[in-house]
Amino acid sequence: MAPVTDFAVKEIYEYLEGFGSYHQSEAIPGASPLVNNSPQKPPFGLRTERISGSSFTAPRDHSLQTWMYRVSSSLRHEEFVPYQNEGVPKKPSVISPNSYLWPKFPVDAEADWLSQKLLAQNGDPATKTGVAIWVFSVAQPMKPNTAFSSLDGDVLIIPQSGTLDIQTELGKLLVRQNEICVIPRGIRYRVTLPAGPARGYICELFQGHFRLPELGPIGSTGLANIRDFQVPKAFLDGKLEKGTAVANDATWSIISRQAGRLWEAKQDHTVFDVAAWHGTNYPYKYDLGRYCPMGNLLFDEHDPSLFTVLTAPSYREPGVNVVDFAVIPPRWMVGEDTLWLPYFHRNTMNEFYAPIVSVQHPKHPLNGDQQFKPFVAGLHGSMTTHGAAEEDFQKTTNGPTTPQKVQTDGFSVFLLETEMPLFLSDWAAKACFKPADAKPRGAAKI
Ligand SMILES: [Fe+2]
Repeated sequence: MAPVTDFAVKEIYEYLEGFGSYHQSEAIPGASPLVNNSPQKPPFGLRTERISGSSFTAPRDHSLQTWMYRVSSSLRHEEFVPYQNEGVPKKPSVISPNSYLWPKFPVDAEADWLSQKLLAQNGDPATKTGVAIWVFSVAQPMKPNTAFSSLDGDVLIIPQSGTLDIQTELGKLLVRQNEICVIPRGIRYRVTLPAGPARGYICELFQGHFRLPELGPIGSTGLANIRDFQVPKAFLDGKLEKGTAVANDATWSIISRQAGRLWEAKQDHTVFDVAAWHGTNYPYKYDLGRYCPMGNLLFDEHDPSLFTVLTAPSYREPGVNVVDFAVIPPRWMVGEDTLWLPYFHRNTMNEFYAPIVSVQHPKHPLNGDQQFKPFVAGLHGSMTTHGAAEEDFQKTTNGPTTPQKVQTDGFSVFLLETEMPLFLSDWAAKACFKPADAKPRGAAKI
């Protein structure tokens, strides 16, 4: 059987395949002009619109540019005003040398995608540095004719449990637990819930973009393979009528997050009127069940960098990353004369970790509602010592080292390892244990 996740919610969309490739897709055949990017008269009366994710002069393998051919330009909208008269949010400011653990936090039963809670942040979107970590716990679809986008950065969406149906300007993605999704800065999208409530995490990357880690001596394949990343196909909310593309227009509300604050603008046409697109700046998703782990074959516990799915280099100096996203999957352990737990350590990087529920059955106790289970998250700040609990150390140091398949019970743990200290929001500081003296299962394995 192929190493893919046996999802409880089955796929309903088709995708293009390949990370970092130049992709193109047409909802109406011929809607993408042949050769010309910006012809005098685009096909079917469409408008040409470009969305850039990098400087025009970026090296070719860093250039993120996409051409869209749409019924109406997104230029046509009313003025942006503060969403629901929200004030300017307070920048996260709580920090200490202690580890933090969030066993649970209150959730809003009526929440939708716009109800994300800011947990931690470093850097600043105003200077395009660092990341923000948001949590979502949603029970309601976004209101009709409403779309969202982050102007602060690319977002990595990590469902812990549940399924998100994400309609983007460039097409639709079904993102289920044990899948991740990245939506570039500025791309508008809408989230609905095809299978009940969903909860999870968002890593908003203010600086640069996610890339696949280099493979070095691993060679040409392994870890997250290029062909397993899935990219949406163009979807037009409309049709071709007498040679002209027309959209199902209505009044739409565009809600954008800038410097952590929400703004709203109305427009008299749909967001989802892109009949074709081509380029390198697009959303994508990935099934973590397809991850190909590498490991030690004889001795020593190696670094969790072996489980890196995506990375965002800072380019400030070699070997410094804005953030690494890693998932520790089920795997075989075979090391001789080796403690099968991480050594005690202090790390210059800051380690935020949280569970992803791997059991898919919707009625399993870890699934099915908005409560974060088995726990919300943990954080080991820079140079904060962490490692195995004494009980786990004793068990493992006296245990067998015959080959065994190691996997946590019902969930896996992901790690966001970021170079700069993470400051907590007041809300996050209020919800946590201080210090983290009661570690849940899995927490010791980071
Ligand atoms: Fe660690």
